[in-house]
Order: sequence, then structure tokens, then C-alpha cells
Amino acid sequence: MKEKIIIFDTTLRDGEQSPGASLNVFEKVEIARQLEKLNVDVIEAGFPVSSPAQFEAVKRIAGEIDLTIAALARTKENDIKAAGDAIKNATKKRIHTFSSTSDYHILGKFADDKYGKTLEKKRDFIIKMTRDAIQYAKTLCDDVEYSAEDAGRTDISYLAEIVEAAIEAGATTVNIPDTTGYTLPGEFGEKIEELKKRVKNIDQAIISVHCHNDLGLAVANSLSAIHAGARQVECTINGIGERAGNASLEEIVMILNVRKKKLGYYTDVNSKEIYNSSKMVSGFTGLIVQPNKAIVGENAFAHESGIHQDGMIKSRKTYEIMTPKTVGVSQTKIVLGRHSGRHGLKLRLLELGYTLTKEKLDKIYQRFIDLADKKKEVFDDDLRILMGDEILKEKDRYVLKHLQVHIGTGAIPTATVQIKTNGSVAQESATGDGPVDAVFNAIDRALNSKFNIESYQVRSVTSGRKAMGEVTVRIRNNGRSYNGRGVSTDIIEASAKAYLQAINQFEMDKIDLQQELDDEEFRYAAI
Ligand code: KIV
Ligand code: ZN
Repeated sequence: MKEKIIIFDTTLRDGEQSPGASLNVFEKVEIARQLEKLNVDVIEAGFPVSSPAQFEAVKRIAGEIDLTIAALARTKENDIKAAGDAIKNATKKRIHTFSSTSDYHILGKFADDKYGKTLEKKRDFIIKMTRDAIQYAKTLCDDVEYSAEDAGRTDISYLAEIVEAAIEAGATTVNIPDTTGYTLPGEFGEKIEELKKRVKNIDQAIISVHCHNDLGLAVANSLSAIHAGARQVECTINGIGERAGNASLEEIVMILNVRKKKLGYYTDVNSKEIYNSSKMVSGFTGLIVQPNKAIVGENAFAHESGIHQDGMIKSRKTYEIMTPKTVGVSQTKIVLGRHSGRHGLKLRLLELGYTLTKEKLDKIYQRFIDLADKKKEVFDDDLRILMGDEILKEKDRYVLKHLQVHIGTGAIPTATVQIKTNGSVAQESATGDGPVDAVFNAIDRALNSKFNIESYQVRSVTSGRKAMGEVTVRIRNNGRSYNGRGVSTDIIEASAKAYLQAINQFEMDKIDLQQELDDEEFRYAAI
């Protein structure tokens, strides 16, 4: 008998905490729809109390998606109320509350004497606070998950004590996060086994794990925990998340799938939607998937050397342990062109995972025709880019209307931009060290702003001579990073779009940021 592993996707919560990866409400809803096709068990849709935009995204997802929708909350009444309100309309809902349990976290975040004068007293305070929070969450929702933050570095006796108290208070899932990605697989597995021995009511809850990848061990640690008895794994698409990220969903799912006979577990995930999910998340977050990334990297199924290619021709099994088809990578490239109709475009976009209203299809069709005029052949990646761009445009404050660049050997690079903003158009020119610098300077002048460029990357994202160039720009302001992504057959235009998009992300976040900074304690909630 194979046992099911519950897949708890936290792309929209922990994943969104990746530096620079803030997603807007439209993008989150679109990703949640894709996660529904992927058929994960739980979607953690956000942290509602942290900002109005977070609240709104969770609320919309809860109102539309027919999976268990989880909302994160600290062990505070306000947080739990916001989480409960945001998921009120979900058909299946879960409140996920967490408190600090390691000495590092307790002594760091609960240093004030008001939480107790000794470590022992502070620990007692946290247990009581956790109990109260879970009991309150239970009045709003039957399904309550408790996480012991930094469990990986928490003293086992205290961890067992708080987990037992959480279950007693009504937690139906107890999550053991390796918040700092510190533990080793054997050690983490032992921790789960130890909890099973020490916590007398452990059978009344599902054991979950949530591993970070600081030492590259997130997936290995999750597997070790499954082996020891965990039945829920928290993970993200492409492994994105705080710092080095979380356990990668596609790796966990495919390990359990490919090695099913040996391991004896299964998930309900529709693996054929993995590739679409990866592309969508990478497109919306601007976080590029490394080419050699397992399962979803560009090279994951590429066989370069002659020996490998020869072997593959004779029998695929020589070098392939799973087929690209299993994870939704299409072997036959479907190419659309100028003569492809609206219906053909719609069908292909649906297959790529996008939901389309008639209005959106009309807009995208026009852009598709413009692109087909330039490129002749339009590939799946081109379509994904068009869709990503269109979704972003719906909320952009600044839009590039016109760009002219003068360059040449011996000439001073000069750029002129026109930017549409709130009904008016700002026009400015500037010079720079090169064409991109000139464009950025012209944009700065037009918007009367200046941002630090944290990173600038350019790469070709589609194939052929007329490939689309993708530029990713990360800017930094007020201690936060914002990613922008621009795509065009002209990389100078792509650079301008990327820079503007990063500025648009910053603008969107400004109000939310103010609210967070106003909340003193928020700064200590290092999740
Ligand atoms: O890493 C962590 O501990 C978390 C918790 C909130 C589950 O993200
Ligand atoms: Zn985390």
C-alpha cells in the first residue's frame, strides 16, 4: 500500500519572499489557477495581515480556487483574525499560525523582560501564546496548522512540549520547519522520529515539514523527514523562497514519482503541469531558472555529448530516467504564425495554462499579430512572454510610449524617452556610458527619481535569429529589492521596459511598505 504525501505549495507566500520577487494580485490569482491545474493539495496564498495587497490576493484566491487555501498568521489575535477574514469564502480553508521556538529566536525576538526574565519563562510565555492563538483560530476554522519556527535548531524537549501543546489546543497539522536550512538529512529525520516518540498526542495531527535550502539540502531533508513519518511537505515551484529558497516542488514530486517502487509514496500532483507552472512562476517573479536545474531547467533533458546522443538514439532509457512529457515539456514545438487564427491562439494559450477572457484574448491577439509580423514564427515561450507582459500592464503606473536611442562609434550614446503617467506624458533626453545607461538616465529624469541598480541581466529567451531578448533589472530602495523584466526583439527597448517595470513594482509596494514600517513588531517577524 502506497501512502499519500500532501503537497502544500507556498510559492505565493514563502516563494514571494524571494528578494525582488513581489507579485501583484493579478499574477497571484493566475499562479493559483495554475496550481489548481497542477492539483497540489494546499495553496498557502499569503500573509493577510502584512498588507492590504496580501489580504486582497488571499481573499480573491479563496473565493475562486477549489483547493484548501491557507493563510499565514503570527500567534497574534489580529493576524489570525485577518487570516480568517481573508479565507472566509474558501470551500476548504486553513489558518497557519507560527511562533518562534529556538533559543536564537526566543532570545532575539522576545528579549524584552515583558516576555519573561529567564529563557524558561520566555519559553512558557510562548507556549501559552501559541495555545491561545490556536484556540482562537479554531473558532474561525477547523483546519489549523501550527509551525514551530526554527524547529531545526530547537531543543528537542522544548519542541516536543510545544508541539504537544499545539495539538492539545486543536492544531490538525504540526509543521517542523528547518527555517535556516541548517540541519543535515539524518539529523532532521531523527528529529521527526524523536517527536513521534516524545509527543503523546502526535497521532492526532499530520506531521509536516518545511525546509529551506541554505546548504542545498532542502529536498534531501524533506525526503528524510518523509521517511521518518512526515506526511505533508511544504515546497515551492522552482524552489524559490527566502534567501536560498525552499524545497523545490517539482523535485519532491518527481523523486516520489520516479522512485515510487523504492520509496512507496505518491502525490496527487498532475506532473504534466509542472513545466507550465515553472515557466509561469519564473515569468511573473522575474526569477530565472538556472539551466541545469533538475526537472525544469532548460538543459534538464538535453543530451550534449556524442556518446549520450548515440545512446539516446539506440534506447532512451540509457540516459533518461523520466520522459520530458511526464513533466509537460513538449517534444514537438508548436509554432504559430501570422496566419494562425484567434481560435488557434486561444487553444494554445489554454494549453500553456492561461485563463482568457474575451477582452484579454482580443488584446493578446493584436500583440501576437504584431509579433508574428516581426518574427514570422511565434513559439510557446513568445506566447508566455506576451501573456506575462499583458498581465503586468494591467496595473502599471508608468508605461513606455516612445524610445529613441542614438549610438555609434565615437558618438555619445543619447536616449530620448516618452513615459505615460497618470494621463500625461513626460519626455526627457539624457546621455550615458552606453545606450542602456543613457536610457536609464533619461527615465530617471522623466520620473524625477534615481534608483540603485542591483543587477542587470540580458539573455535570449526564444529561439532563432529574431529571438526575443529578455532583460531583468533589480533595483533597490528603502532596503527592499524590486525586479523588473522586459522582453522585446530589441534589447535596448527590453531594458527600458524592465527598468520601468521595477519602478512600477516599487510604486505598488510603497503604500504597503509604509504600513509595514508603521507596525513596530512586524520588523521582528523574520519569517
Ligand atoms: O521558514 C519558516 O519557518 C516559515 C514558517 C512561517 C513556516 O516560513
Ligand atoms: Zn519558510
